[in-house]
Amino acid sequence: MSHSYPKQVRIVEVSPRDGLQNIKQNVSTDVKVALINKLCDAGINDIEVTSFVSPKWVPQMADAADVLNQLPSRDGTSYIVLTPNLRGFDRAIESGAKEVAIFAAASETFSQKNTNCSITESLQRFEPILLKAAELNIPVRGYTSCVLGCPYEGDIDVSEVVRVSKALIDMGCYEVSLGDTIGIGTPTKARDMISAVVHEVPAEKLSLHFHDTRGQALANIFACLEYGVPNIDSSVAGLGGCPYAAGASGNVSTEDVVYMLHGMGIETGIDLEKLVAAGHYITAQIGGQNNSKIGAVYKN
Ligand code: HMG
Ligand code: MG
Repeated sequence: MSHSYPKQVRIVEVSPRDGLQNIKQNVSTDVKVALINKLCDAGINDIEVTSFVSPKWVPQMADAADVLNQLPSRDGTSYIVLTPNLRGFDRAIESGAKEVAIFAAASETFSQKNTNCSITESLQRFEPILLKAAELNIPVRGYTSCVLGCPYEGDIDVSEVVRVSKALIDMGCYEVSLGDTIGIGTPTKARDMISAVVHEVPAEKLSLHFHDTRGQALANIFACLEYGVPNIDSSVAGLGGCPYAAGASGNVSTEDVVYMLHGMGIETGIDLEKLVAAGHYITAQIGGQNNSKIGAVYKN
């Protein structure tokens, strides 16, 4: 195939949500807000800041409203929040959310474990959210999880990834983020998946949300960039993981993605030095390990 890398990539930073949701110890609202501000200062314009899920399911996100309320409004910055159902959407809107994300899966078992409903039921659950969001002019992002494999079912049929992703777009999502939830894919598998999805959903409406559990994320991203996908979800310091995906570890590190993209001559608008500092800030605060290779090279 001919290589048509995008000239510019939009990074969707997910560390305040995906990065922190799996951490058992309490992370204060102040620390979350400080992290988000540092990420914005580094030039990130799209950032998933929290989730309005059931606090019984994900206690770390119980302060979602407080996080959102403490963020300054910034021109050109979109604070995205994850919402699993209409209840979560309403809570988000009451708290001033201007953009939301909904999440479905290409695996029946993961759908049940993560959201206590089937894939079909989850899509039905999203319908009233999309209707209300359209009335309120709220952009909605969609996720398809388990696109390269499932922690419970193993291999996932690519046709199911295509079906769910297309359904999310048809319902009104402006973009679908393709989640390798447990970082299990390899580049040729990622290429097979993306080449099937771009037949039904244009590359510009796709984002790559790859966890790096097995060190494959950058290679998988590179394989998909060749198809012109211009959006990448990543997490500073490589934080991340879903509590309902056994064995899932961090998202691909934003620092490493930005380093790779800049090295390829692809613009992100992000200041790598400030980004690295944000990664060191959050790892110091939570006492965790910085999983970014670039973070380790540039210790500040
Ligand atoms: P359920 O137990 O079936 O729902 O959970 P329910 O309607 O029976 O409600 C249970 C309780 O939660 C009730 O409280 C509800 O009021 C309350 P009670 O009456 O027992 O006191 N509740 C809520 N509270 C606040 N906000 C809400 C809400 N909804 C219900 N929105 C549900 C169903 C979907 C709620 C649950 O399964 C859930 O919250 N799941 C979210 C799990 C999650 O956050 N997972 C991580 C994010 S997804 C991810 O990480 C993957 C991703 O990164 C992509 C990738 O990597 O592939 C996106
Ligand atoms: Mg994830």
